[in-house]
Amino acid sequence: MSYNTITTTPISGALGAEITGVSLVDHLSDGVIAEIRQALLDHLVIFFRDQQLTPPQQIAFAKRFGPLEEHDFVKGLPDHPEIIRVVREADEDSLNFGGAWHTDVTHQECPALGSVLYSIDVPPHGGDTLFANQYLAYETLSPGMQRMLDGMTAIHTAEGPFGPNGRAATNWKNMQIETSEKALEEMEHPVVRTHPETGRKALFVNKTFTVRFKDVTALESAPLLDYLFHHASHEQFTCRFRWTKGAAAFWDNRSVLHYALNDYSGHRREMHRVAISGDRPV
Ligand code: SIN
Repeated sequence: MSYNTITTTPISGALGAEITGVSLVDHLSDGVIAEIRQALLDHLVIFFRDQQLTPPQQIAFAKRFGPLEEHDFVKGLPDHPEIIRVVREADEDSLNFGGAWHTDVTHQECPALGSVLYSIDVPPHGGDTLFANQYLAYETLSPGMQRMLDGMTAIHTAEGPFGPNGRAATNWKNMQIETSEKALEEMEHPVVRTHPETGRKALFVNKTFTVRFKDVTALESAPLLDYLFHHASHEQFTCRFRWTKGAAAFWDNRSVLHYALNDYSGHRREMHRVAISGDRPV
């Protein structure tokens, strides 16, 4: 794909590209926004370095791709509730937020279209984020497995991270998180979704929110779900982004999984995340 105003440099064979020739601080023309949107569809996750974004500028950029939403369980910044702080302090010795392969907020009826994550403070080493291409995850399954999964529905809940006994109860102490019974609510999504813009099929289950298949017990679901979780994050489907201060990652939550690595013990890491509203997976 060629672009007139932006330059894309892929960072792996599977997905991910760094974008240059654009400053997210500026009010970008509709033409540039259309190219960035195309780059997101082409590369699934795109990265911008050396940006100096204030919270209103991050919000203004993300809003060009759709309305923003507040997180159900993580409180946003006091003046900018759409922005959540993803932070772990140097003296915290616990799980990190996002430290498992997942798609954001699939407990919702309409999970986010995508998120823009901006780095405020990065550790001197570690704290990279991994992404995995879920078109490839689907396309590399056997035809028989694809046919079986095409007709299946999975149940998603936010109980694991945000339920009364969820991971938030004992981790992420410096984030504003409210665990709640609301996290027990169940949501149905197709196991394979068709991307509303590209028309391609992508595997759509994730370890954080998918708890079982519809009309099947958790115990009965576990062998196939475990296989799919494992398959979905095969090394060949992934890319890895090394953060620098002032970098931004924009991922398509409809076609990628992501994973924040927990390997920066003793160092501080802080990100600001906004999520763009998505549609009902079909
Ligand atoms: C997230 O899962 O939204 C956080 C990702 C990260 O901190 O790298």
